[in-house]
Amino acid sequence: MPDRKHFGQADSGPWNPKQYLKFGDHRLRPAIELLERIPLESPKLIFDLGCGTGNVTRIVAERWRSARVYGVDNSTEMLQKAQDQPLPIGWIEADIENWTPDEVPDLIFSNAALHWAERHQDLFPRLTSFVNRGGYLAVQMPLSWDATSHRLMRETLADGGAAGRPLGTAAFRQAVARRWVEDAEFYYDVLVGDARSVDIWQTEYLQVLEGTDPVLEWVKGTGLRPILNGLENDERDVFVAEYRRRLHHAYPVKPNGCTLYPFRRLFIVVRV
Ligand SMILES: C[S@@+](CC[C@H](N)C(=O)[O-])C[C@H]1O[C@@H](n2cnc3c(N)ncnc32)[C@H](O)[C@@H]1O
Repeated sequence: MPDRKHFGQADSGPWNPKQYLKFGDHRLRPAIELLERIPLESPKLIFDLGCGTGNVTRIVAERWRSARVYGVDNSTEMLQKAQDQPLPIGWIEADIENWTPDEVPDLIFSNAALHWAERHQDLFPRLTSFVNRGGYLAVQMPLSWDATSHRLMRETLADGGAAGRPLGTAAFRQAVARRWVEDAEFYYDVLVGDARSVDIWQTEYLQVLEGTDPVLEWVKGTGLRPILNGLENDERDVFVAEYRRRLHHAYPVKPNGCTLYPFRRLFIVVRV
């Protein structure tokens, strides 16, 4: 079985496990629906890329008990939390964009992580090239570009300051407005050449969230991080106050106290 810990690179960034796990059930469901579409019976070696706190890695390891399973992530904070997982999973600190497996895996799995990596036209074929013949690459990523919550992030940066002024520098606004995930057809075209089969689908979940400012709390755990980390303190406060106001308007609280937050996700299962 793998070592429980072999990472030791420099601190890779301020991911906050507690914030991310606030909506654990909603974040887990797509991972389980992705897993259900992988028809492998007894893979020997599995890597979970962008494993975070290891909650999904544990479910992967539970499904294929005889497999050696490794979680790969570049956040020391997330990997430290992953150490609490009860199964003998190996944790590797590495950047997905440069990572190469030591041995040939039967499955590379990645839930809600590859959108943080760039150059998908190179990354996806690179990942499938690592996989054993007959094995799978299985990926889920959020399709958040068109979501109102994410459009409001860009708009609030553009005109949410005093008297409608922009917040942050033009270069910063451009950098955080990266379109993280391409259309489904892009992935089909990139992957079909080396694949035996490519299964791609999208699902929109009507997430029923509870609590105060739930959409703000949701994006704070993921997509809002680059903005919150990049703005100076005073601008960050202005941004959050204005963004919260716009979110309230866009996602009104229902009489029962719940807030509906539609969220689309893209699923890709490639047989190599
Ligand atoms: C939204 S979390 C998903 C965690 C886990 N897969 C899950 O489903 O709960 C995204 C994870 O990807 C990791 N990540 C982002 N960019 C990465 C990169 N370039 N290399 C390795 N990990 C990365 C983050 O540190 C974070 O733990």
